[in-house]
Amino acid sequence: MEDSVEIILQDGSSRFSHPTQDKPVVTAASGAVLIGLYGLWTVFALPGFRKVPKSLKVPYLPSSRTQTRNVLKLLRSRSGCLADLGSGDGRLVFAASSLGFQCTGFEINSILIGYARVRALWMGVPTSTARFVNKDFWKTNLSGYKNVTVFLAPGVMEVLARKLMEELADDSRVIACRFPFPDWPVAASEGHGLDRAWAYDMATVRRLARQPPIAC
Ligand SMILES: C[S@@+](CC[C@H](N)C(=O)[O-])C[C@H]1O[C@@H](n2cnc3c(N)ncnc32)[C@H](O)[C@@H]1O
Repeated sequence: MEDSVEIILQDGSSRFSHPTQDKPVVTAASGAVLIGLYGLWTVFALPGFRKVPKSLKVPYLPSSRTQTRNVLKLLRSRSGCLADLGSGDGRLVFAASSLGFQCTGFEINSILIGYARVRALWMGVPTSTARFVNKDFWKTNLSGYKNVTVFLAPGVMEVLARKLMEELADDSRVIACRFPFPDWPVAASEGHGLDRAWAYDMATVRRLARQPPIAC
């Protein structure tokens, strides 16, 4: 009887033991992969951020093709200089430059800037249509741009709204991806869910900002 109980216990413990307990190599390999992925993420997503205040830090996350297509739709009937704030690997800059815009991508991550510049050279895109500047856009005056595109983070949109209100001309258009400006009147929008993009015309944004608040 005792023997059979022991057999049952032994059998049970082997059946319910965690699969990786028996496979230390698998556990070690998974750990190494996770650490490697975290290392890659910090190398590609974070360099250059030391001087940016913590509340304004935005990591790299590439936009989808649908998102880029939605931005291009909102740029229809527009022309001139375009600034992409946080240009990442340059995908939006390349797409907009193919429509005839003179684009500048501002990017704080020097690895992504290097990648975008090499890609521009490889594709034969001249710097007159696609320029990549390794600069903090918070410290850049954007008054020369008639078109501004942003794919950043919800926490920075209010601060960015104040900066753009101060610097952009009335005939400028701002396009925000995924995260809209909290209080700005929307001129048009394209797409749904994570790929949605919103367009704002500065003249309308300013007109609304000048209106006195409605008394209750
Ligand atoms: C969400 S990603 C968007 C990348 C790209 N626009 C796209 O659509 O694929 C935000 C980018 O902004 C960059 N960034 C964040 N803060 C910045 C700053 N102050 N100046 C310049 N670039 C910044 C990040 O390094 C990152 O590449």
